[in-house]
Amino acid sequence: MDKKVLITGGAGFIGSHLIRLFVNKYPNYAIFNLDKLTYAGNLENLKDVENKSNYKFIKGDINDAQFVNELFLEHQFDSVIHLAAESHVDRSITDPLAFIYTNIIGTVNLLNAAKDIWNSKYEGKKFYHISTDEVYGSLAEDGFFLETTSYDPQSPYSASKASSDHFVRAYGNTYGIPVVVSNCSNNYGPNQFPEKLIPLIIHNILHNKSLPIYGDGKYTRDWLWVKDHAMAIDTIFHQGKIGETYNIGGFNEWKNIDIVLLICKLLDEKLGNPSGTSAQLITYVIDRPGHDRRYAIDASKLKNELNWTPSITFEEGIEQTISWYLDNQQWLDNVTSGDYLQYYQQQYQTK
Ligand code: NAD
Ligand code: TYD
Repeated sequence: MDKKVLITGGAGFIGSHLIRLFVNKYPNYAIFNLDKLTYAGNLENLKDVENKSNYKFIKGDINDAQFVNELFLEHQFDSVIHLAAESHVDRSITDPLAFIYTNIIGTVNLLNAAKDIWNSKYEGKKFYHISTDEVYGSLAEDGFFLETTSYDPQSPYSASKASSDHFVRAYGNTYGIPVVVSNCSNNYGPNQFPEKLIPLIIHNILHNKSLPIYGDGKYTRDWLWVKDHAMAIDTIFHQGKIGETYNIGGFNEWKNIDIVLLICKLLDEKLGNPSGTSAQLITYVIDRPGHDRRYAIDASKLKNELNWTPSITFEEGIEQTISWYLDNQQWLDNVTSGDYLQYYQQQYQTK
């Protein structure tokens, strides 16, 4: 095997697309997927690769330092692509500590294990941290996040990711660990847990439930097709310069209400419903506390230096996403039973 790559959070949304890409594209890499299988982790996402000889799943918690150290000792990974995290802003508002444990302490546990095992012999080693554009805070009507934009996180989620980014860079600076960080905009696509806007809207339309729009609905996000994020990670992992940061974005800004209206229109067409049927479910609800107004990434560094651009348009991606959820309603039903119902009731009860 050419490389032993540890991917954390590989049973989640983005991680599962990345695992699939790596397992299929790099038969000479040994790919290890370390995941705790929280509510967001789902091995169903990886059915098609689970028996591949270059893939191994390990169930475990990055918050458990002893377990992480023993795992590194046993497998002697030479690269880490770290995605495992608590990832939903609304949950970070109700339970910030869970984000501090996994996103900050979990990341430091992995850094410590890599530092100890690599023991200053860094040839061929890499620690790649997958982060978010939310660390930069909120934009007004104009402007974009650059790699040089100052950090200004506004939610417990983004504060925890900002902190973990700082630790990754600090370990690079202090101990010489070869680190790379990328900060990506909002992803969408198959296998996203339906607590996030796009799958939540699709799920609720399919179940004739109201479509909750926070505040005035004019909050803006820059949406990227999840498989394009996975391909950007592949590019940065192989060609990115050590110590650098790369912003990843879709060049694709949408106001929330416009995206919701588009999904309503496309689902009405696909389900054969009269135009306007789904849009009747739109319900304006109390805003998220501290809601960031606008995110927009300038991804020109990645484009100019590493030649990455998104492979499909948003119109193609959203069409494929809706089709995937329609074709995989059993997946949706499975992940929205149990804990999800309790979460949904708590999150939307007062709104
Ligand atoms: P997700 O919530 O779908 O998946 C997270 C995965 O991490 C799950 O499989 C979960 O079981 C696992 N996990 C959580 N806590 C763990 C722990 N303590 N130990 C081991 N595994 C644990 O998240 P996602 O949307 O796929 O995001 C993946 C990464 O990308 C995160 O670091 C997130 O901050 C970052 N990111 C996400 C987006 C986005 O739009 N979703 C955008 C930019 C960056
Ligand atoms: P989300 O998918 O939670 O991603 P993030 O907060 O990380 O950007 O939310 C995307 C946008 O949609 C954000 O502005 C909040 C808004 N939103 C709603 O209006 N209603 C909802 O029920 C949810 C979950 C999000």
